[in-house]
Formats: sequence, C-alpha cells, structure tokens
Amino acid sequence: MTGSPYRTALLGTGRIGSHHARTIYREVHGLDLVLLADPVAGIARTLADELGVERAGTDPVAAATDGDVDAVVITTPARTHVDLAAAAIEAGKHVFVEKPMALTVADNDRLTAAAEAAGVVLQVGFNRRYDPGFAAAHTAIAAGRIGQVQQLRSLTRDPGPFTADPTKIPQWTIFYETLIHDFDLLNFFNPGARATSVFARADALVAPGHRDTGFLDTASVSICYDNGAMAVAEANFSALYGYDVRGEAFGSAGMVTAGDVRLTSMTAFLANGVSAGTGRADTELMHSSYRDEFQAFARAIADPAEPVPTGEDNRRALEIALACIRSVEENRPVEVAEVNR
Ligand SMILES: NC(=O)c1ccc[n+]([C@@H]2O[C@H](COP(=O)([O-])OP(=O)(O)OC[C@H]3O[C@@H](n4cnc5c(N)ncnc54)[C@H](O)[C@@H]3O)[C@@H](O)[C@H]2O)c1
Repeated sequence: MTGSPYRTALLGTGRIGSHHARTIYREVHGLDLVLLADPVAGIARTLADELGVERAGTDPVAAATDGDVDAVVITTPARTHVDLAAAAIEAGKHVFVEKPMALTVADNDRLTAAAEAAGVVLQVGFNRRYDPGFAAAHTAIAAGRIGQVQQLRSLTRDPGPFTADPTKIPQWTIFYETLIHDFDLLNFFNPGARATSVFARADALVAPGHRDTGFLDTASVSICYDNGAMAVAEANFSALYGYDVRGEAFGSAGMVTAGDVRLTSMTAFLANGVSAGTGRADTELMHSSYRDEFQAFARAIADPAEPVPTGEDNRRALEIALACIRSVEENRPVEVAEVNR
C-alpha cells in the first residue's frame, strides 16, 4: 500500500453494514472511513458518533457520489445495489458491493462494463474466499494437489432458531442471497470451469406455515460443470447448533475440506461428554474473512493486479441462482444457457 488511506463512504448501516464499518474503522489499513449513510434517520449518525467517523447522512446516492470520497462500500438491501453501484462508478469511485451485486445478468454485465470503462475496482462481498481454510483449499486445488476435480459440496446453514418474519424476506432470498455464497465457493473450488446445468429442490421446512406464500427456507441443488465435475449445494435457515458453512472438493488425487462450526479449536472433555463452542452469527465465525476482504479491497485500489472477487464472479454465481429459480418454478433440470442473458 502506498500513499494516504482511501477516503471511504459506507452505505447502509444495518446488520452487516455496521459490522463492516466497525471492522474497517478499527482493523483495516488503507481505508479511512469518513462518511456513513442510511435512509433511516439517525442510525448512521449514531454509528458515526460511536466510531468517531466525521460525517453521516440519510441520502445514500449523495454519499455514493460525494466529492470527498475515493471508495464506496455498499451494504444496503440486495435490490438497491445496482443503482447505488452505478452511481458510484459513474462518479469515479472504487466500489465494494455486498453480494449479490445484481439480480439480473443484464444489470450485472452493465456494472462490470461500467467499472472497466471507468478504471475502478468493483469487488463483490464473497468473503468466504478470505477465510483461511477455504483460501487454503482453493490454493491446493489450483496447484493440482487433488488432481482432476470430480465432485464438490458446499453448504450454508444459518443459525437458529429462525425468528425472522418470513413476510419481510424477499422471494428467492435462499438462492439470491444465501446460496449465492455456495455457488461462488463451488466456482472457486473448480477454477476455470463453468456451470452448465442445475436441478434445484426447495421448500419451507423451517416455517411450513408460510409455504403457501412462496417462502423457501431449505434447498438442495445439484450442479453440473463443463469440466465434468458434479456439485451439490445446500442451505437451511435454522441450524440450532449455530452458523455452519463448509465446503469440500474431491478429485482424482485426493480431497480437501474446509469450514468448521467450532469457533476455536478448543474442545472440552468433561464428565458428561465432549463439546465445542459454536458461533451464533456469521460475524462471529467469519469475522477474519470480512476484515481480510476489505484489506484486499484497499490493496486492489493500490494495485489492480490484486485478485478480488469481481463482477464476473458475481455473474457466474448469479447464473446458477437464476437457473435454480427456474428449476424450482418449473420442477425440472435447467441449462444455465437458458438464463444466461
Ligand atoms: N457477505 C455476507 O456474509 C453477508 C452477510 C449478511 C448480509 N449480506 C448482504 O448485505 C446486504 C445487507 O444485508 P443486511 O443483513 O445488513 O440488511 P439490513 O436490512 O440489516 O441492513 C440494510 C440497511 O440498508 C438500509 N437501506 C434500506 N434501503 C436503502 C437504500 N435504498 N439505500 C441505502 N440504504 C438502504 C436500511 O435502512 C438498513 O439499515 C444484503 O445484500 C445481504 O445479502 C452479506
């Protein structure tokens, strides 16, 4: 990193945005958080006061284009990402946007092209790539240590009990916002390959009373890749033992696994048995990955050769999510090419 820190605005100080703001402010070198914005009156100001951030506002578009910032972190609801990222890119800002960057292929490609034309960084919040275990697994796979990749797995189980109001959760969230992490991870574990078809099953098993509204809280997906590899991804909104994210790649020369529900390697051996502590939140279990993705964002601004998850990575995960949605709607296997435009 060279020169002064990049003056950074963060938009959307909700659950993950406030965690990211605290992490950037306290732990990330090279990003100077100078502006927070959230349309809900007062919440950006309260967080700014807690951290000692100079400015706070209620207009996210004004913050995205503010003349005094170099970089913008977008942690607003998924359906607001495209417009805010487009405004920031047009204003010449480097952009970190939470997943999913976009919900349509057309929007996805428009943002990627705009960032390329503007010469700015466009990084997507696929933080799992920055977890030491998942990163080491990718390195081993890319180095050929497991040989030809043949089978892959990835899962996300959100911590239970599930207490959210299903009527407030947008339709298809399990694919667009939860499993999109797994789709990116499967792509990360199968470097250079592209998904060709999917078959998805999804249901409301956690909150069956909401099944009739189209709410989905449980899904299993089978994915085929153009290098012959077969993958399985699964998600559930209520793991009573805590946040659970794991991945596996099996190949002709061996296997790698990554992810651990345990918060630390401490295991207690006591009179009533053996136990380990688990995390109740992604921000607990995956904290270092969130910190390290922002450290990478600062490095990428300084050096465009820094590899970060890009708009193109979002597209490749989004294609799978869109194919899953069609697969559930039509109860059939779907070729990715059917949704890939
Ligand atoms: N990478 C991860 O592990 C991870 C974890 C959690 C959430 N996320 C993603 O982060 C995003 C936010 O999720 P969250 O759980 O923090 O949501 P949230 O609802 O807790 O927070 C969103 C915030 O954005 C604000 N907001 C609403 N509309 C806005 C608009 N038009 N412009 C600007 N701000 C607006 C809201 O007032 C709220 O404070 C989602 O895309 C989600 O998928 C990623």
